[in-house]
Amino acid sequence: MPVHTTPQGWILETAHTAYAFGINAAGHLVHRYWGLKLPDLQDYPAPFLSDSEISFINPPHLSREEFQAYGGLRYSEPSLKVTSSSGVRDTVLQFVRSEVAENLLTLDLQDELIGLQVRLHYRVHADTDLIERWVTVKNAGSHTFELERVFSALWHLPEEQTYRLTHLTGQWLDEFRIHKDVLSEGTKTIESRTLTTSHHHNPFFMLDRAGEGQAFEDHGDVWFGLLAWSGNWKITAEVTHAQSTRLGIGLNDWDFAWTLEPGASFETPVALAGYTREGFGGASRRLHQHIRAEVVPHKNLKRRVLYNSWEATLFDVNLEGQSQLAEVAARMGIELFVMDDGWFHGRKWDTAGLGDWWPDAEKFPDGLTPLVNKVKSLGMDFGLWVEPEMVNPDSDLYRAHPEWVYHFEGRHRNEARNQLILNLGREDVQDYLIDLLDQLLSEHDISFIKWDFNRYVSEPGWPAFAGNAKELWVRHVQGLYRVWGTLRERHPAVVWQTCSGGGGRADAGMFHLADQAWISDCTDPSARLQIQEGYSLAYPASTMEAWATDWGKDRFSLEFRFHVAMCGVLGIGGHILHWPEEDREEAARLIALYKDIRHLVHEGDLFRLRSPSQDVISGVQYVSRDQQEAVVFAFRTHHPRYSQKTWRFRLKGLNPNARYTVEGFEGARSGQAWMEDGFPLELAEFQSKVLKVTQI
Ligand code: GLA
Repeated sequence: MPVHTTPQGWILETAHTAYAFGINAAGHLVHRYWGLKLPDLQDYPAPFLSDSEISFINPPHLSREEFQAYGGLRYSEPSLKVTSSSGVRDTVLQFVRSEVAENLLTLDLQDELIGLQVRLHYRVHADTDLIERWVTVKNAGSHTFELERVFSALWHLPEEQTYRLTHLTGQWLDEFRIHKDVLSEGTKTIESRTLTTSHHHNPFFMLDRAGEGQAFEDHGDVWFGLLAWSGNWKITAEVTHAQSTRLGIGLNDWDFAWTLEPGASFETPVALAGYTREGFGGASRRLHQHIRAEVVPHKNLKRRVLYNSWEATLFDVNLEGQSQLAEVAARMGIELFVMDDGWFHGRKWDTAGLGDWWPDAEKFPDGLTPLVNKVKSLGMDFGLWVEPEMVNPDSDLYRAHPEWVYHFEGRHRNEARNQLILNLGREDVQDYLIDLLDQLLSEHDISFIKWDFNRYVSEPGWPAFAGNAKELWVRHVQGLYRVWGTLRERHPAVVWQTCSGGGGRADAGMFHLADQAWISDCTDPSARLQIQEGYSLAYPASTMEAWATDWGKDRFSLEFRFHVAMCGVLGIGGHILHWPEEDREEAARLIALYKDIRHLVHEGDLFRLRSPSQDVISGVQYVSRDQQEAVVFAFRTHHPRYSQKTWRFRLKGLNPNARYTVEGFEGARSGQAWMEDGFPLELAEFQSKVLKVTQI
């Protein structure tokens, strides 16, 4: 039973952990415990109420509330802030009832005075030690409410300890950099205000203790989580003056508002979190397993080796050129041929065409069918790039509907990459996109779509909206989910990729729609090793599209570039028409090797062996869930010490008592030996190796 209701409150138990909360003597729903599971349900601490009588240090402020509304004697970051049209601006929540249905717990709270109902939802994933939380707010009164903040969860850490926040930051071409900040009194905020998830931060966190109790890759306490949302989001990691550390996560309240008329409700996105004693690696593996098994649309998808035309031909696509690429791609063993930007009406460069999603008559006089047929006849599937939320002012769509983009009346409309953003909060815009893209998918044998989003917002106005235009931050994402979700329902076999100028929109919200993500426009292999490492903290390799391209070819062999890309969903993005025949043959050999090991990369457990951000030697290992086999990738990015020729790799995640062989090394040894003693691997400068590990 994952959910226990006891006189002291509720206890959510997973395979290894427990999360407890309950109602204290003042009637407040407070956090009690989050950590390793204890032997007895009576072991968990009682709901705490401070007896402080000091004017400036009040019991409510000292409480660790599960979902803290703004109001009363509370001054830390609230989870909820509501203004009633009656003039009341605070909220006083009282517990009403709870309900358990298998792994789901719901708790109803209410503010009787203003008629606000708050439902807290908890879903326990016992196998992966994860808990999902989200919140529904309902107006059960007679006044209108304005929601000013409504987070999905407030997570409390064990008290009187100092924590370190691990998070992912970056920019275009340089996403998913790992940062670690020690938290001190005050609030550390990471967020997106861009309308999309953004390259700058990702809605993901890990917390461990700072200093002595710190966690490492393979052991130590880590509390971690993410938000399943693809628009503006916010994380507030706060340390109160009473040394209580808590982390709020949810929709960004910056420029946000939501009007709740009597009878109406609002539901937040899902926040997911867990605790493990198995270090950062253990935290990542739990998230990976959850996303693979519970989130992505196609659970048992064989991820195809793809070719993407972007870096080879940019906007210069046509039947002849793409057919030539397809012929070479097919010979190398590629399974999916994706034509990127440039194929649609009026698209010669990035100055025109977005919005007009039908084939360009000059480039494709007979439409896309001849190319699709060509690709299919070569034994490959066909994929296509789109960027549905955008419009170029130079397009038929914009000429017909200049009012469909975000704008403020009378204000200049700032373009970025010569484009404006369609207001997906509008139902007519959603319907236009559904109809047009449905037609595209119905008329062609398309099995893969890359969905891009190539700018951040400006002038977030919606003059025609009768309600509060500040709702658009949420309405855009809801509209996006509706358009994409409808297309997915109508074309269930299509596999989708999320992209936003590289890794600007890779998040667990997207992974309900997309099986794969393009995580950076940077395909330089050594930079890529770090980007991939950062991405791997949160998201599984089965979602991580990675291409071997011509980028970095002066320094890195084709083999090295392939090996880096083989750590995820392999794609090829180089100009293969320009590759000498021996490169194509080598690519064919590497693709064949990849097909042999990809089940480990996509379905196995990831172990980070040596970090590319710490050293010039790095490595990752993927182990089948039954520990029968594994594959090791090792990289040397440049010369640290001329005298050193070999580096020791110690494997992880094997069955200590079973015997394994490691490719390139004589004899079988126990898993324990490969993990404790490891092996010395010879790696020349800029060399990489892939080694298969097999249980005998
Ligand atoms: C973005 C993507 C690229 C490519 C271009 C096309 O930058 O990240 O992979 O699709 O758009 O314009």
